Amino acid sequence: MDEQLANKIKQIWESAKINSPLTQKSAVCVSTIDSAGFPQSRFVDLKEIDQLGFTFCTSYNSEKGNHLSDNPKISLVAWWDHIGYQVRVVGKAVTISNELADKFWSTRSKEAHVATTCFKQSKVWDSADSMENRYASELAASPASIARPTSWGGYSVVPNSIEILKFKANRVHVREQYLRDGTSWKMQLLQP
Ligand SMILES: Cc1cc2nc3c(=O)[nH]c(=O)nc-3n(C[C@H](O)[C@H](O)[C@H](O)COP(=O)(O)O)c2cc1C
Repeated sequence: MDEQLANKIKQIWESAKINSPLTQKSAVCVSTIDSAGFPQSRFVDLKEIDQLGFTFCTSYNSEKGNHLSDNPKISLVAWWDHIGYQVRVVGKAVTISNELADKFWSTRSKEAHVATTCFKQSKVWDSADSMENRYASELAASPASIARPTSWGGYSVVPNSIEILKFKANRVHVREQYLRDGTSWKMQLLQP
């Protein structure tokens, strides 16, 4: 993304965080492609928007991580109702650096660290109660500081196309589609 486009989307995201009615203010939906070719969607927490792309953190061994190692194609969508913006991104996921993963790991709570280290994300477990018991005993036994497991990190969604939709009550939504054109980006308006 060029700097101007990255800043434009970042500004929309910043305003979406103000007066958001949501507890999880930065949740965005990402879709990956499974081995049978079906899209699989789930929410993740958006951590950063910059010229490289849209970054979220997760376990590399999760279902989404496995999808992405087979097929890096990914889409991301956000809907920020209180400011009336939808942002859609299609592109490829690239893993973030260990330094960046460490930075994001350090912003997480001890509880989140333990929840990450004591479970294998997306693998089957038997009961919710025994999961809580496992978590409580791991938390009680955990050291003051927990190092980031190498299996935890993040991906940047490097965009090929981005659409910014400004919702209009009369449904004449303003849809700006940005397409990569070599090293620059072209904008075209789409009908609502
Ligand atoms: C609001 C919200 C935010 C979430 N944020 C994350 C996140 O940042 N990273 C993550 O791995 N899972 C997050 N999750 C859990 C995912 O939706 C998903 O259940 C998990 O990543 C496993 O997905 P997978 O089995 O497709 O890999 C979040 C769930 C919700 C509802």
